[in-house]
Amino acid sequence: MACSKPTTPWTLYRGDALRRLASLEPESIDAIVTDPPYCAGGFTEKEKQAAKCMGITNKPKEEWFVGDNMGTAGLCFLLRSVACEALRLLKPGGSLLVFCDWRMVSALAPALESAGLRHQNLIVWDKGSIGLGRGFRPRHELVLHFTKGGSKARYFTRSGSNLIACKRVPGRTRNHPTEKPVEVFEKLLEVVCPEGGTVLDPFAGSAASGEAALRSGRNWIGVELSGEFCRKSRQRLRQVASEVAA
Ligand SMILES: C[S@@+](CC[C@H](N)C(=O)[O-])C[C@H]1O[C@@H](n2cnc3c(N)ncnc32)[C@H](O)[C@@H]1O
Repeated sequence: MACSKPTTPWTLYRGDALRRLASLEPESIDAIVTDPPYCAGGFTEKEKQAAKCMGITNKPKEEWFVGDNMGTAGLCFLLRSVACEALRLLKPGGSLLVFCDWRMVSALAPALESAGLRHQNLIVWDKGSIGLGRGFRPRHELVLHFTKGGSKARYFTRSGSNLIACKRVPGRTRNHPTEKPVEVFEKLLEVVCPEGGTVLDPFAGSAASGEAALRSGRNWIGVELSGEFCRKSRQRLRQVASEVAA
């Protein structure tokens, strides 16, 4: 179900990413920027599928989100299918940017590349402080970058960097358990999407990418499976759109 009028710069569909992407027009999207389930809640396949909320032990499972307990093969299948749709939906030279956890990079990069996209880069989001864990405690997350066509990749600033430093969204203000900062999405969008262009996020969560798109003069299409996150995202995007219009 689309929740905005066609004249507004954003559209959020509630439903499954693959089904919805299949209904969009070919070569209608400038950039796909998305943060899918990481499925990284453990080191073994059994641990990943146990839905352990990525090791965040104080989170009740019912407050977590769907799809985060696939094994490696399931996640590779899902994201390769998204990459096949990306090849159809992106304008020539357009970009697909996919957030992921370090444990999954070695499986996901070849799976996505095998859809026919060019693997261009690995972007590091430096969160500025260490997270939970032992030994080398995690301070960064990663974003895989692919383009439709290699030499004809389209970029819209010359000052993009593959290191983005930005603090996490504080727990008390989060709309989603794994919400990403709007600023990180803004930094990604300015490189891969022209102003006035269209961004697609098939795993929208709380629509942080949508807020980034609207605040930076881009159009946004999102897909999200959870009714609750769709409801919160609609409120968020209506508020942002009215602030931008004011
Ligand atoms: C990592 S979260 C996205 C968080 C988002 N970037 C934010 O900042 O709020 C992934 C989202 O994908 C959604 N999801 C999982 N499987 C899906 C599917 N097959 N189709 C659409 N959405 C899905 C989950 O409900 C979850 O909200």
